[in-house]
Amino acid sequence: MAAPLHIESPGADFTQDLGRTIGEHASAGDVFLLTGPLGSGKTCLTQGIALGLGVEGYVRSPTFVLMTRHQGRLTLHHVDLYRMGSPAEAWDLGLEEQLFSEGVCVIEWADRAPEIFPEDCLWIGLDYGQDPDRRDITLEPGVAVEESRFQGLLGLLTKKAATSEL
Ligand SMILES: Nc1ncnc2c1ncn2[C@@H]1O[C@H](COP(=O)(O)OP(=O)(O)OP(=O)(O)O)[C@@H](O)[C@H]1O
Ligand SMILES: [Mg+2]
Repeated sequence: MAAPLHIESPGADFTQDLGRTIGEHASAGDVFLLTGPLGSGKTCLTQGIALGLGVEGYVRSPTFVLMTRHQGRLTLHHVDLYRMGSPAEAWDLGLEEQLFSEGVCVIEWADRAPEIFPEDCLWIGLDYGQDPDRRDITLEPGVAVEESRFQGLLGLLTKKAATSEL
């Protein structure tokens, strides 16, 4: 497996733009698994993904409702597992039948229930950087890059990161 792609975000706008690029290139069945501490930017990235999918209106964190749905070019299923008691509870939601077949899924706090997701997802980890507005973002598919449905997207992001277009 190739090394994960690391991108340093200098601010919230950058993280949202990264999300927008991801949303613009997303296809039906894509599952994006977001991890990182409170306030690290998972919802910010999701707002960008929503913009890239052409969703109108503001995408809020669904922490209290667990799941929200937005209509864009594709349906965006936005899930937050922060309050999930156990992976079994997530399993009981029937996520795999409801969500993983159509539209695009973005799951915040995906590491609360890693075993319920399809193998070829894109894991996106966000963490705090050296100053308050910096975030270290790591993108890694669940299978070898060459076999991943995200190979094209990762290639594009790698190129953009190298040419400072990101
Ligand atoms: N580089 C950055 N990327 C993303 N957000 C940033 C960045 N710098 C500052 N921020 C700020 O950090 C906050 C991130 O909040 P956000 O709700 O996206 O986090 P979260 O990971 O979804 O948190 P939670 O775990 O509570 O759902 C926002 O207020 C945003 O403006
Ligand atoms: Mg959030």
